[in-house]
Amino acid sequence: MDVKKIRSDFALLNKDVSGKPLIYFDNACQTLRPKQVTEAVSEYYDSFPACAGRSVHKLATEVSLRCDEVRTKVADFLDAESPLEISFMKNTTEGCNTVILGSNLKKGDEIVTTDYEHNSVHVPVLRAVELYGVKHKIVKSAPDGTFDIVAFEKAMTKKVALVAACLTSNVTGYTLPSREVVQIAHSYGAKVLFDAAQCAPSRKIDVRALGVDYLAVSGHKMCGPSGVGMFYCRAEISERLRPIMYGGHGVTDTRYDSYQLLPAPERFETGLQNYSGIVGTGAALRYLSSIGLDEIQAHEVSLNKKMSKALSDVSGVRMLKPLDPNLRGGIFSFNIDGLSAHDVAMIMDNSKNIMMRSGMHCCHPYFHARGLEGCARASVYIYNTSEEVGVFTDAVQELAAKFSKTH
Ligand SMILES: Cc1ncc(COP(=O)(O)O)c(C=O)c1O
Repeated sequence: MDVKKIRSDFALLNKDVSGKPLIYFDNACQTLRPKQVTEAVSEYYDSFPACAGRSVHKLATEVSLRCDEVRTKVADFLDAESPLEISFMKNTTEGCNTVILGSNLKKGDEIVTTDYEHNSVHVPVLRAVELYGVKHKIVKSAPDGTFDIVAFEKAMTKKVALVAACLTSNVTGYTLPSREVVQIAHSYGAKVLFDAAQCAPSRKIDVRALGVDYLAVSGHKMCGPSGVGMFYCRAEISERLRPIMYGGHGVTDTRYDSYQLLPAPERFETGLQNYSGIVGTGAALRYLSSIGLDEIQAHEVSLNKKMSKALSDVSGVRMLKPLDPNLRGGIFSFNIDGLSAHDVAMIMDNSKNIMMRSGMHCCHPYFHARGLEGCARASVYIYNTSEEVGVFTDAVQELAAKFSKTH
């Protein structure tokens, strides 16, 4: 992987910010965008700023064609059988809400989740409990921070209608054994939703080989523009899933007293869409495909190994489990004794120009259950370098030496 060449595509990495080069380690929140993506977004506004699927003039036809092209690209990227299994949404959260609140769940049904769900799954599940009286079962992680497949199987019953799980954790970077989870869930007749927001940017996902029923992804975590989610729904079950929003475009006909929904994907794409974002998403997927997902994953793990090696035995630095960097992709989460996570992130920004995330990362229950107030998180991506990791690990060592002694 030619990191130097990749870096030349990202404007922000090629100018000093506050008089220093910027080290961007907040990729799990959102990645930077290469010029190929920002140019594609501008092309929409400059050349065909119209609306898909409605007007019949040439600008509108161009938008429709471009969006169809991107839909096909997303289907290929995820190995879906048909582009019609892909809907464009606002983000991962919308896809998760659509499944959890649109599956006609009823009292007596059960939903199984992990104990480290992002709120984009956790909160709609709590809402389903409130609205429909479904039972929420949470599978506790194993002591080493991995997914406890035995506990998962114990939680499964014929009443489980849905397993909704975070494929790759945004807190620890851990990826659960997806194929086994789907196989076990299906053997009980349950459907499976994977929140793949953190997985899709750097691991090849093959929805057909996995047999997963639903999967949700956000473009902004994989070099795409903000405000575009990609939602996969297996064709055979899409008619049973109801949208969470109703209005124009998602319907085939309406009368004063009735409406008829269109099939997927249109039923999930109500109202005017984020066309510039969809066009930009196409450019992002082309960009990532040209690098290769396996290469991206290997690059992240190699940087994470370097971080882990430098920091795992440093007094006062507490890494979140699992400790093995091979299990954590590009995410390195930790605390420093004597400092809050926000202090760590602010000091890193002010002293070294390192941008990272701190807090509970929208996974409050995970931290409450472990008696933690949060963590600092460094997350790397395609343009990050071994030298940047060196600056980061030196800075963490310095901070730990200074603050953890006095604690
Ligand atoms: C694991 C995971 N799931 C879901 C989300 C929500 O993504 P979005 O805000 O794009 O809906 C995130 C965002 O950080 C995430 O990391």
